[in-house]
Amino acid sequence: MKGLVPLLVLLLLIPLAHAQNLNEALQECPGTLTGSTAPVQIHLQMTDDHSEMNVIWATNARANAEVEWSSSNGDGASTGESYCYNHDMAFHLAKMENLPIGEEVTYRVGQSNQWSESYTFTTIDPTANHFSWISIADHGDSSEAIDVSDAILADQNTQMVTISGDISYADGEQTAWDNWFQIQEDSMTSIPWVTAVGNHENEPGYEFSPYEHRFDSDNIIESETFWYSRDLPGIHMIFMSTEHDFEFGSEQYAWLENDLITANKNREERPFIIIYGHKPMYSSNSYHGSEVELRTALETLYVEQEVDLVIAGHDHFYERTWPVIGEVTQSEGVDDGTRFSQGEGPIHLVIGIAGRSAYEDLDEPQPEWSAWRENSTYGWTRLVYHGDSRELSFTHHRIDGTIGDSFTLQEASLNLEKDEGILGVPGFGSTIPILALVGAALKRLR
Ligand SMILES: [Fe+2]
Ligand SMILES: [Fe+2]
Repeated sequence: MKGLVPLLVLLLLIPLAHAQNLNEALQECPGTLTGSTAPVQIHLQMTDDHSEMNVIWATNARANAEVEWSSSNGDGASTGESYCYNHDMAFHLAKMENLPIGEEVTYRVGQSNQWSESYTFTTIDPTANHFSWISIADHGDSSEAIDVSDAILADQNTQMVTISGDISYADGEQTAWDNWFQIQEDSMTSIPWVTAVGNHENEPGYEFSPYEHRFDSDNIIESETFWYSRDLPGIHMIFMSTEHDFEFGSEQYAWLENDLITANKNREERPFIIIYGHKPMYSSNSYHGSEVELRTALETLYVEQEVDLVIAGHDHFYERTWPVIGEVTQSEGVDDGTRFSQGEGPIHLVIGIAGRSAYEDLDEPQPEWSAWRENSTYGWTRLVYHGDSRELSFTHHRIDGTIGDSFTLQEASLNLEKDEGILGVPGFGSTIPILALVGAALKRLR
């Protein structure tokens, strides 16, 4: 009975803590916040329901969190919540709901006397048979990073951006986040950018607090879930954290396993599974290299659940593995090593090339599992899901406008003729496939 009283008090307090209204939230922002109530750093944040979209923005002074929108479903308006952290700006999160799928929505944020301009985005139809997006990692605000930002903005086809961690490199300097969001605003107001945390999101003196206040994956203000997934057309995307416990027995491991099992039941609808996380299981850049602990903890799970791609950053270079398990190459595909079939083993990518200084030193010789690598390169990667052919294409773009690596992953098995193309198609002179093999090997040695 004695223990019941504090328990009851606790139970009474929990709903109060969650039912924090706008005014109570604003109380947490210091009275010293002054300046404009004009919305800045406006950015869409995708939820797991494509008929809704969150939007986050900042103001210099305290302000309300209102959003108004219009679509073929009519006009809508809602009031969200405002909050602060240890930085002299107020933040606001509001939700647009009951949006038509696959259609345009026009919106503005702010409050009655101070609205932003109007922006437009198109909601994602998860049953669409075509989906195009850009994946980056290790961004920041260098001139190369701005080239990448400009390229994203110029790409009218991209429907979403993912970042595999190390986003602004604020490292405790909060105005760096303000600048980063302002640079991306033209893109982030029209397509969602979806993030996994990197080590640079764990900031000196702040830990993950800036990340938790400036992004949202869980519909809860001032907190963040560091592992979550989203269903996109043809793809199940997982955003995990290499910066939190991922060992067997951890909360994250259990979540990953459960999420992957569920995703595997829906392969007919979404044939591909991609995992985004910051640190790579496979990297032949000697600056950081392969995160062996991560590989030991999670590779078997990824293999068993037939994860297709694992897209990481952290090492500032570009590398793609062959389908690999335990450092052993499972396949070198067909078409000069540019076409693979699902289920041969995960392909791991390091794409830490979006703007931070390149890490120059590569492990030599190039490991056998490494299919393509290049350093002193900056750029981004583009992925496209083709529903008609049930394939996923991947292209590595450099900021100088050239294309580096590219490959395609298909759901169907590689047909026998193509398989034999590597080993010797009957009727062809045996020297042709041998020359092709030598050519492919030389290409890999570059
Ligand atoms: Fe990193
Ligand atoms: Fe980095």
